[in-house]
Amino acid sequence: MLIRLSGARKVLEIGVYTGYSSISMALGMPKDGELVACDVSDEYTSVARRYWKEAGLDSLVTLHIAPAVETLQRLLDEGQAGTFDAVFIDADKPSYPAYYEMSLKLLRTGGMILVDNVFWSGKVADPSVIDEGTQQMRDFNALLARDDRIDIAIIPMADGLTVARKR
Ligand SMILES: C[S@@+](CC[C@H](N)C(=O)[O-])C[C@H]1O[C@@H](n2cnc3c(N)ncnc32)[C@H](O)[C@@H]1O
Repeated sequence: MLIRLSGARKVLEIGVYTGYSSISMALGMPKDGELVACDVSDEYTSVARRYWKEAGLDSLVTLHIAPAVETLQRLLDEGQAGTFDAVFIDADKPSYPAYYEMSLKLLRTGGMILVDNVFWSGKVADPSVIDEGTQQMRDFNALLARDDRIDIAIIPMADGLTVARKR
């Protein structure tokens, strides 16, 4: 719905797994849209590839199997800064700050960054939880909250979805 509402035509996904979110987003894109998908796992994305084909969406998707930081750097090196309408970040959590910074560069002004799991099962709001993963997500949320390059909201459903708009 967010992809369709925003009219996004060129979308970056960081973290594909078996293809649920990529299919959801691709269904909201025009038929000549472009979804650049990043993952490290051939095994997981083999399932995604099967269902992209079955859903008639495989022509929209370009899959990059490599650490996403490398793929994003390659996109920047190729001159794709400022060309993406939307980015969905949903891969390894320690890399979220790097994905966010690189995504901001790849995004056009007015484009949207979506980030999954920002509630971290509610642990970010529980002061008794002090493990490293929880603190990383708290720090990431705080980083975005004070970043004046974006407008930000959090959709409080499931595990929390940040919606940030590049100013
Ligand atoms: C939570 S799953 C993605 C779920 C998917 N977005 C969905 O909602 O259907 C996280 C994915 O990130 C991938 N991943 C983990 N580390 C990665 C990295 N360094 N670069 C790219 N992908 C990575 C994993 O292989 C896994 O498929």
